[in-house]
Amino acid sequence: MSAAEWVPEGGDVDTLRRAATDCRGCELWEPATQVVFSAGNPAAPLMLVGEQPGDSEDRRGIPFVGPAGQLLQRALAEAGVGVADVYVTNAVKHFRFTERGSRRIHATPQINHLKACRPWLEAELQTVRPRLVVCLGASAAKSLLGSSFRLTAERGQVMERETPVGPLRLLATLHPSAVLRTPAGPEHDEAFGGLVADLRTAARAVAG
Ligand code: URA
Ligand code: SF4
Repeated sequence: MSAAEWVPEGGDVDTLRRAATDCRGCELWEPATQVVFSAGNPAAPLMLVGEQPGDSEDRRGIPFVGPAGQLLQRALAEAGVGVADVYVTNAVKHFRFTERGSRRIHATPQINHLKACRPWLEAELQTVRPRLVVCLGASAAKSLLGSSFRLTAERGQVMERETPVGPLRLLATLHPSAVLRTPAGPEHDEAFGGLVADLRTAARAVAG
């Protein structure tokens, strides 16, 4: 199971995005509405990698436009990161869900989905060549660093690591959905503040 045979070699972001509409690299394409590729500036210094599109993203075909995406936009603004500074994508390009009545409930992608979809992420890394990759949550980090990655132990640090596309500078932080899930009040404020602080660290690491 792999997207590799659908990924055009040496393609720029627009070429990759077009090619991804045909991907059958794993079974997730079938129940989903459409592929959700990426957004933002393909020449940005920061690449933000989420987990997978959610319900809103699946319907609109654009990453980070639902509630988690709105929280992320607020956090980026508070951290002083401008829209031109970021390219945003996901470790898995189709929405994985289970159906409960008429509702579609997010289902965490498995390691085999992360692996199957990774050729897209690798191709994006090769063409965007970001100065720093921000992994939003454990799935993105596991895709690039392996399934033994533990977010709580390593979050918020700029790391230099060997990855399937060679050495990368990375920083892992909370997924905005995890922040959304914390109940309103001090716990939520602390989680949101932690995300903002990590995004500030990322911005500093690529400045100057
Ligand atoms: N969560 C993600 O990880 N990615 C999106 O695009 C939306 C929500
Ligand atoms: Fe291809 Fe990734 Fe979609 Fe699977 S999730 S079909 S590998 S684009």
